[in-house]
Amino acid sequence: MNDRSIGIFDSGVGGTSIWKEIKKLLPKEDTIYLADSKNAPYGEKTPEQIIQLSIKNTDFLMDEGCKIIVVACNTATTNAIDYLREKYRVPFIGIEPAIKPAALQSRSKKVGILATKGTLSSRLFHSTAEMHAKGIKIIEREGAGLVPLIEQGKIASEEIRYLLQTYLGPMLDEDIDYLVLGCTHYPYLLPVLRELLPEKVQIIDSGAAVAKQVKAVLEKNDLINPSQKPGGHRFYTNVASDVLKDFLKGNTASYTVSQMDF
Ligand code: DGL
Repeated sequence: MNDRSIGIFDSGVGGTSIWKEIKKLLPKEDTIYLADSKNAPYGEKTPEQIIQLSIKNTDFLMDEGCKIIVVACNTATTNAIDYLREKYRVPFIGIEPAIKPAALQSRSKKVGILATKGTLSSRLFHSTAEMHAKGIKIIEREGAGLVPLIEQGKIASEEIRYLLQTYLGPMLDEDIDYLVLGCTHYPYLLPVLRELLPEKVQIIDSGAAVAKQVKAVLEKNDLINPSQKPGGHRFYTNVASDVLKDFLKGNTASYTVSQMDF
């Protein structure tokens, strides 16, 4: 049981930002990562479609015998995780925009959130914002067009820079001092974001917090892999695998990338 893999899925390559944090914190664990790039962006789909895609991905990972599922996608978490938790018996860890820490630390009491349409329009996002951001002005923007460009590997392109400038403008006009990245694809835009934002604006993403949560839940359920060897990692994508391979470049883990239809 304990030597089974951690299953991770996202609408594409973005969740590898979470996978990297998990691998860093839990280096002995095996992982299976599903990049459903064929169906990206999830953020433009209806809640029902997002639930169906999340079920499809979870079924794949359950068939592989995963002991825990990480929904490495804000859009799938905010639209489908309650449903998944009811339907399956393994623990699920999700990711949501980190409104709470930003709201607690903001001095200007103005926080920007960049996320997908699917996340920003979800009920879970609204209830979290209501609960944790009392007295805070939240300036939210949909990052329309960003995920498709990142899926093409164009993270340093002029198109990305232009879109970010457009989305950040109203936030800067409001004098935000925190920007919450509400999509697991966006940490890959950090170099451009850092160039576009004044130094006083802190950028928050939840990747490291998700990895900690995965560790805590594995420990609580007595599911930590006792192996002393570094974990192995299998990646699956349903489009050409070159972009996913690019996103994994430079990491030292042992891994395979396979393209297949799912
Ligand atoms: N990585 C997904 C997220 O965190 C991207 C969603 C999309 O495919 O639009 O929301």
